Amino acid sequence: MPSTIFAPESTPISTIEAIAHEARAGLAATPKTLSPWLFYDEAGSRLFEEITELPEYYLTRTERSIFAAHADDILHEAARNQGPAGKLTLIELGAGTATKTGILLAAAVRQQGSVVYQPVDVSETALAEATDNILSNIPGVTVRVQVADYTRQALPLNRLNNTRTLALYIGSSIGNFAPEDARDVLRNLRAQLLPGDTLLLGTDLAPSGGPNANKTVATLLAAYDDAAGTTAAFNLNVLTRLNRDLGADFDTENFRHRACWNPTESRIEMHLESLTAQRVHIPANSAGPALTIDFTQGESIHTENSYKFTTTAVEALLSSANFKSTKSWQDPQHLFAATLATAI
Ligand code: AVJ
Repeated sequence: MPSTIFAPESTPISTIEAIAHEARAGLAATPKTLSPWLFYDEAGSRLFEEITELPEYYLTRTERSIFAAHADDILHEAARNQGPAGKLTLIELGAGTATKTGILLAAAVRQQGSVVYQPVDVSETALAEATDNILSNIPGVTVRVQVADYTRQALPLNRLNNTRTLALYIGSSIGNFAPEDARDVLRNLRAQLLPGDTLLLGTDLAPSGGPNANKTVATLLAAYDDAAGTTAAFNLNVLTRLNRDLGADFDTENFRHRACWNPTESRIEMHLESLTAQRVHIPANSAGPALTIDFTQGESIHTENSYKFTTTAVEALLSSANFKSTKSWQDPQHLFAATLATAI
């Protein structure tokens, strides 16, 4: 399994239909939108990995530093309700290549000798890489991958006797969802857990305000509009993807990346702004008839929301999905939070 080589990406028909459906609905609407899952083709996934290493994008390294400082405490808290012989099984939603998870898995092995790890992701290639990394670096871990969309599909909870589940939903992935959708994702997860199981939720924190705040709106804006232009390339790549997968004729030179802070909704928004008045075509395919899309100069496609949370908002979200927040860890600058919650 760790050395499985997957064929280079060719988008399956079902995915093409989902993309076509999404693009038609979003681009015919006012204002125009595209859903963030469209970012993650092979090129987009690579660009996202690059984003996580940018100096401005503090999220990934800050969450990793929280895990590095507190992994033993986190695992100890999660195991609190365990019987003496019981073990935790770790499941991860949207695991990707699981680069931060190793720290938590190593702590689980220290605590209980061995651990079963079930990463769930839509990308088979990312899961293969995750498996490879973990098996070659952390002895004591058994990996069982599941290719699935955790927002829609049931999770692979092969519950072993005498084990409890610790679900990991990290990286502030929850931040892509509007509040009601975020609640529904957590409710879907909760429905597949037993009381006493736990969830570790990673959330990016809202700007703190005030003159000595560590996190300002400028910190946030820089994280989503970096100097090297990687986030711009990531955003624009969605148009390249529509050209490739749907035969659309977007000219990426005619759009620019824009990130803004929406204080009312407490979210960063990413947009692709049309630099000119222009017309774009999507040819007919099995998912629908041909579509002509007109842009005025300055009109934008809203491509992503990235919600930022107060600790109160995190607690409210968790309790709306029947979880009780038990303990939360932050970095010394209060940029990011990892919150452990118990299913009730
Ligand atoms: C993967 C959703 C957590 O919102 O920060 C990074 C995606 N978009 N830069 C985020 C993203 C632009 C990221 N999440």
